[in-house]
Amino acid sequence: MLHKVKELIGEVQAFNATTKDEIETFRIKFLGKKGLLTDLFNEFKNVAPAERKEFGQALNTLKNAAQDKVTLLKDTLENSMEQKGFYGDLTRPSEPIELGSRHPISLVRNQIIDVFSRIGFTVSEGPEIEDDWHNFTALNLPEYHPARDMQDTFFIEKNPDLLLRTHTSSVQVRYMESHKPPIRTISPGRVFRNEDISARAHCIFHQVEGLYIDTDVSFADLKQTLLYFTKEMFGKSKIRLRPSYFPFTEPSAEVDIYWGLETETDYKITKGTGWLEIMGCGMVDPNVLKNANIDPEVYSGYAFGMGIERIAMLLYQIPDIRMFYENDVRFLEQFKSVL
Ligand code: PHE
Repeated sequence: MLHKVKELIGEVQAFNATTKDEIETFRIKFLGKKGLLTDLFNEFKNVAPAERKEFGQALNTLKNAAQDKVTLLKDTLENSMEQKGFYGDLTRPSEPIELGSRHPISLVRNQIIDVFSRIGFTVSEGPEIEDDWHNFTALNLPEYHPARDMQDTFFIEKNPDLLLRTHTSSVQVRYMESHKPPIRTISPGRVFRNEDISARAHCIFHQVEGLYIDTDVSFADLKQTLLYFTKEMFGKSKIRLRPSYFPFTEPSAEVDIYWGLETETDYKITKGTGWLEIMGCGMVDPNVLKNANIDPEVYSGYAFGMGIERIAMLLYQIPDIRMFYENDVRFLEQFKSVL
C-alpha cells in the first residue's frame, strides 16, 4: 500500500500538461471527491497500526504534491497565454478613444437657438403627437379649410383626433395658452408630413419656429429680427420678403436671402438667381391670438418658421436630405471639428 502511494507521488511529480482540460482531468483524478486521494484516505483504517504513521505522511505528501502541481500548471498556462498576447501588454499606451460628433441637425439647431437667445428668445417644446386644435383649428385652419391640404398629415386616430404634428406652430399655440405677453419664444422640434421621400423632402424633418407678441409689434420688427438672424447665421446681409400665404399669419411672406453668384454651386443652388428661400413668416393673425385668449386689440405679434435640414444643407452644402437619417459614419464624422 505504501509502495503504491510512493508510486503515485512519482507520477504526480512527473506529470505535465499544457491545456486547461488536461489539468482538470488530473485534478479530478487525484483530488476530486471520488478521486484517488479519497480512496486512499478511506484505506487508512485497514493499514497496520505500526505503518500508519509512515502511510499518513506519504498520503499528505501525495496530497500536497497534487495540489501544488495543479496550482503550478495553472499559473504556467496563464503566464504563457499572457505572453502570447492574450491579455495584451498592460504597460502599453491604450488605443486612442474615438470621439463622437454631434449630428449636423443638432449643430444647426443649437446655432439657431444661440442666435435667438442672444436677443431674448426662450426655447419652448411640446408633444409630437398633437390634437387637431393645436395643430390646425387654433391656427385659423378650421375643418374643411382647403389650406389643410398644404400639409399632408399623418393621422393617428379620428375620435378623439390625434395626429403627428405637421409643424411646431402647435407648440406656439400651447405657449400662448399658458403664458401672458410679452412672449418671445422659439420652438425647435421634429415634425411629420406624409410626403414622398426624395433628395429634397422627407416625411420626418425638423423645424424651428419663432413667436413674438407684445404691444406695438410691427412688420418692421419682424424684418429687423430676420435680418439679424441671417447675418449671424450665414454672414449674409441682404434679404427680401415676398408676399405669400399662411392661414395663421396676415400679412404673410416668404423670406429669401441673397446668397450670391460667385461659384458654380451658387448658380446651381439658387437656380441662377442668387436668391434662396429660407423660411416663412408673417404677422400673427388676430384670430389666432383670440383662440389663445390674447386680446388682438391690445397685442400684436409676428411668427416665423424654418426647416433645420434646409438650413444645414445650405451651410454645409449637403446635396441630399436623406443623408441626415442614414447615420452613415462617413457622413457624420465630417462634422467633428465643429463645436
Ligand atoms: N408653420 C409654417 C410651416 O410649417 C411656417 C410658418 C411659421 C410660416 C410661422 C409663417 C409663420 O410651413
